[in-house]
This record gives sequence, C-alpha cells and structure tokens, in this order.
Amino acid sequence: MLSTRSFMLLFLSCIAVRMNLCFTGIHSSLKMLSINGHFEFDKVQFAARDFGNRYQYYPAAVLHPSSVSDIAMTIEHIWKMGPRSELTVAARGHGHSLHGQAQAHQGVVINMESLQDPQMQVHTRNFTYVDVSGGELWINILHESLKYGLTPKSWTDYLHLTVGGTLSNAGISGQAFRHGPQISNVHQLEVVTGKGDVVSCSKEQNSDLFYGVLGGLGQFGIITRAKILLEPAPTMVKWIRVLYLDFTTFSSEQELLISAENTFDYIEGFVIINRTGLLNNWRSSFNPQDPVQASQFKSDGKILYCLELAKYFHHTEDNIIDQEVTRLLSQLSYIPSTLFISEVTYVEFLDRVQVSAVKLQSKGLWEVPHPWLNLLVPKSKIKKFAEGVFGNILKETSNGPVLIYPLNKSKWDNRTSVVIPEEEIFYLVAFLTSAVPFSRGNNSLEYILAQNMRILEFCRTANLGAKQYLPHYTTRNEWQAHFGPMWETYVQRKKAYDPLAILAPGQRIFQKAKSLS
Ligand SMILES: Cc1cc2nc3c(=O)[nH]c(=O)nc-3n(C[C@H](O)[C@H](O)[C@H](O)COP(=O)(O)OP(=O)(O)OC[C@H]3O[C@@H](n4cnc5c(N)ncnc54)[C@H](O)[C@@H]3O)c2cc1C
Ligand SMILES: *[C@@H]1O[C@H](CO)[C@@H](O)[C@H](O)[C@H]1NC(C)=O
Ligand SMILES: *[C@@H]1O[C@H](CO)[C@@H](O)[C@H](O)[C@H]1NC(C)=O
Ligand SMILES: *[C@@H]1O[C@H](CO)[C@@H](O)[C@H](O)[C@H]1NC(C)=O
Ligand SMILES: *[C@@H]1O[C@H](CO)[C@@H](O)[C@H](O)[C@H]1NC(C)=O
Ligand SMILES: *[C@@H]1O[C@H](CO)[C@@H](O)[C@H](O)[C@H]1NC(C)=O
Repeated sequence: MLSTRSFMLLFLSCIAVRMNLCFTGIHSSLKMLSINGHFEFDKVQFAARDFGNRYQYYPAAVLHPSSVSDIAMTIEHIWKMGPRSELTVAARGHGHSLHGQAQAHQGVVINMESLQDPQMQVHTRNFTYVDVSGGELWINILHESLKYGLTPKSWTDYLHLTVGGTLSNAGISGQAFRHGPQISNVHQLEVVTGKGDVVSCSKEQNSDLFYGVLGGLGQFGIITRAKILLEPAPTMVKWIRVLYLDFTTFSSEQELLISAENTFDYIEGFVIINRTGLLNNWRSSFNPQDPVQASQFKSDGKILYCLELAKYFHHTEDNIIDQEVTRLLSQLSYIPSTLFISEVTYVEFLDRVQVSAVKLQSKGLWEVPHPWLNLLVPKSKIKKFAEGVFGNILKETSNGPVLIYPLNKSKWDNRTSVVIPEEEIFYLVAFLTSAVPFSRGNNSLEYILAQNMRILEFCRTANLGAKQYLPHYTTRNEWQAHFGPMWETYVQRKKAYDPLAILAPGQRIFQKAKSLS
C-alpha cells in the first residue's frame, strides 16, 4: 500500500510531468512558426511585472516580434488551436499597467517595444501625421516629430508609455480639454485581431474596429501601427502654478478656463492635504522663479487646491508672452502671493514627470506598489465628491499627488470604447498613491487600498455617476455595470474580433474557454 507521503510525491510528480508536457507542447508548437523575431521561454520574469507592482502572472513565452506578421502568425496559430486551448495572448507596451492588465498567465506575452516596423515616419503632405509602431514610446515620437517642427496634440503626463498602451485606454492630460484625449487624435490604425487577421482601419474604413480598439482595453486586437495627428510645435512653455483655498472657486475657474476661446494650452490641477512625505515630489520638478515667495505662504494645515497651467510660445514671441500670460491670469482669483511662473522648453515641460521618476528610482521608491485610483466624475457632483473625499476620507496627500481637472465631452467620440460619465463636463480625479513597502499606518498598501474602497463606496452610495478610468474589476457584473448601455456593443465587438477571448486576459473582462454570453 502506498504511504500518504509517497502518494503525495507521486501525485506531485504527475502534476510536474503534465505541466512539463504541456509546456513542451507550447514551446515546440510556437518554435515551429517561421517568424522573423524570436520567442523567449526562459527570461520571462519582466513580463510578469508592471508599474502597479501588485500582480504577478508568469507567461509561458514572450514573443519579441520584429514584424507585424510575427504577431499575426502567432495569434492565428493559437486561434486555430480552438476553444479547448487555454492559451491567451497579451500585448505588453511599457508595462505601466496597475493591475496586471498586460500579463498573460501561462500564455504568450508580446513585447511590443521590439516591434520597430514601421520605422517612425513623419508625413507632411495634405495633413501632418506620424506613422509609428504600436510599441513606440511617446517620448520617442515627441523627439522625432520635433525634427520637423511638429508635435502630437494630446499627451499623457508621463511619456514613457507606448502608443498601443495609452490608445487602449484614452490618454488624458492637460491638453485634452482642447484636443480631446489621445484617442481623438488618431488618423488610422493597423490592428491584428484575435483571429490573426491584419486589418487597416480608420473612420472611413472598418470603422467599427477602429472605434472599438480606441479605449478598448486591448480586447479586440493588437495595435501594430498608428497614424497620429500632428500640429506645429512650440519651443518654450510658461509653466504656472497658483493656489486656492476654496474648492468652488478653484473648480469654477478651471471650468471657465477650459471653456474660453483664448486660453492656456494645458490646464490641470491638484489637491494638497497636509503634505509632508517624500513621495509628494513625484511631480515637483517644477522650479518656481521665486522660491522665497513660495515659502512665505502658510496654509495652516488647510486643504489647498493648486491650479496648474501652461502657455506655449516660440522664442520669437518672447516680448509678448508675458503680457499674454498676465492678461489670462487677471481673470482669476487665486491667492495672489502664491503665483509661481517658470519658463522651460517644450520638451522639459512634456517630459517633466521623468525627472521625478529618475529621482524616485534612485531612492528605490519607483518600484513600489502603486494602488492608484482614477475616476471620472460628472461636473454636477464634483463639489459633493470634494466634500466627501478631501480631508474626509483622504486625510493627507503625502504619498503621491491627487490630480483634479475638468474635461469637455464634446472632444470625445462616443463611438469609441472608452466609458465616460453622462455629462458635458466631467473631471478626471487621479489618486496616484505609492505604498511604502513594509510600512504600517497611512503609507501601507492595506491602508491605501481600504481608502480607495471607501472612495469608491462613497461614489456609489452618493450616486455620483462616476466612472473608473483605467478600470479594474474582477466580476462580469461589475464590468457590465461599468459599461452600462455600451455593454451590448462591447460584447458584439468581442464576438466579431476576438471570439475565443484570446486577447488581453489580464483585463479580466472575458475568459477564454468560456462561452461569451
Ligand atoms: C507614471 C505614469 C503616469 C501616467 N500618466 C497618465 C496620464 O497622464 N494620462 C493617462 O491617460 N494615463 C496615464 N497613465 C496610465 C497609462 O496610460 C496606462 O497605464 C497605459 O496602459 C500604459 O501604457 P503601457 O504602454 O505601459 O501599456 P501596458 O501596461 O503595457 O498595457 C496596457 C493594456 O493595453 C494593452 N496593450 C498594450 N499594448 C497594446 C497594443 N499595441 N495593442 C493593443 N493593446 C495593447 C495591454 O495588453 C494591456 O491590457 C500613467 C501611467 C503611469 C505609470
Ligand atoms: C491629398 O489631397 C489630394 C488632392 O486634394 C487627394 O487626392 C488625396 O487623396 C489626399 N490624400 C490623402 C492621404 O488624404
Ligand atoms: C464644450 O465644448 C463645446 C465645443 O467646443 C462648446 O460648444 C461648449 O460650450 C463647451 N462646454 C463648456 C461647458 O465649456
Ligand atoms: C498633518 O500631519 C502631521 C504630521 O504627519 C500630523 O502630526 C498632523 O496631525 C496632521 N494634521 C492634520 C490636520 O491631519
Ligand atoms: C453620439 O454622439 C452623436 C453626435 O455627437 C449623437 O448624435 C449620438 O446620439 C450619440 N450617441 C450616443 C449613443 O450617445
Ligand atoms: C493617518 O493620518 C492621519 C492624519 O494625518 C492621522 O490622524 C492618523 O492617526 C493616521 N493613521 C495611522 C494609522 O497612522
């Protein structure tokens, strides 16, 4: 008779043999594909990590593609295995997701940054655009287009993110009030669907796929190529911060600024609550021209609202820009002694977060858990939100910035997949918190997660109509509620473009080998 111990050993080794067989099967079948790039089966740890630093799922293989056909061939191969295979595929951009969205447990991760085809190219014929690979970083696009005196119009606060990664969400920053999010500034896409088809799409051609993929959380295809609209680039930026004590004044002036004809080129804002810690300099590469004046303002522990603005200009406009900025600022009623203006180059301005990232990296504070929470809150409820959350649920902002700024829905296309609130004006509220490893109390991951839950619970019970941006849910019901009336369309698109649910399993919306319903 088998002893319990030897039975266990036998049992475990059977599992090991099965897993091995299974792995060998995947390995050899993928190895048979005649691709130009290569598969990696050993060095795959990086693909099980992301910026959120909380989820870790190891893939069976990582594809380093060197052409679109590498991606198409791999997906087609998995598509042909049929519904019984559990193999999934995740495109990985720069891996700056928060909840494992670019991971694929036991699946294939495609390292999109290896895809250098097409070579980045700026076109200046009828209209100006840059043709880039879906794995291109925005910082590289900035440098390339500036060679032609051009620039993309709409950004994210941080540029070390890929085109495919931000277009799968929206791409929101201080320019979005004017140009819409990044997904409103795309001319054409090339997409590899969940069947391995390579499809070119735009507003005119295969438009359902085009709109579906924009903000589509990677569910309908892998963006292998994008044509991004450009405009003439400025060279310099006046970068401005002013403080408010009253939330209503702060937010109504933000709303005034985004609706004005002649206004700033970038409008954001953030909340400062009893700020002390280290991590608050996440975005503080900002250099006030007059640091003495900066230290003279005492907030006495009150909550402060910082309006952050930028006005672009050219060297040649040196003489008129100050007048222009003064004129624009004269409409506002911030605390006069808190006006800080600095002048930086356009590149320094757009790449501002990188300065802080490098600082935090050197202190080991960049690769920490990031329990971020991003919300879109309708304008009519933003005061209620602020009262309920700032200084109430959220008692301090020393573990990372809390951004808050309004956006205008008319710059968003309702045919895309991104979910936004139902009002003309809504706010992005971003709690960009870092957890300090091994700490207890207010810096700990558990505390911050519980705080996020309270904020979400407050939004729900107060019926604010808020939506998550960079959404994260774990159940079908929650996803369905998130999409609301768009859910039907979303499911239809999934059936059409990725019927086996092979793509982006880390979003946890659909599960392979379970039928779509
Ligand atoms: C420091 C920091 C600052 C940020 N600031 C902003 C901001 O200001 N505004 C904003 O809007 N967002 C911001 N984000 C969020 C960011 O836009 C998203 O997390 C984005 O997904 C990151 O891009 P990535 O290339 O790292 O994507 P990944 O994390 O690699 O992928 C994200 C998702 O997209 C899918 N995906 C990746 N590439 C492709 C592709 N080519 N085709 C199809 N699907 C693909 C992945 O499978 C995954 O599901 C910020 C994130 C960080 C870490
Ligand atoms: C550019 O303009 C010409 C003439 O107006 C037109 O025929 C052509 O299709 C346009 N090209 C693109 C890419 O729109
Ligand atoms: C939103 O933008 C549209 C189009 O630019 C504009 O007509 C409208 O007045 C804006 N709404 C607000 C409240 O600013
Ligand atoms: C602000 O932070 C300090 C130091 O962390 C703390 O002692 C103080 O109680 C806090 N004040 C408020 C109003 O929360
Ligand atoms: C989308 O927007 C268009 C025009 O802006 C509008 O006519 C249409 O009703 C909207 N569709 C939905 C589903 O909201
Ligand atoms: C968290 O911070 C608040 C305000 O600074 C403080 O009153 C409270 O004691 C802190 N809680 C913990 C668990 O450290």
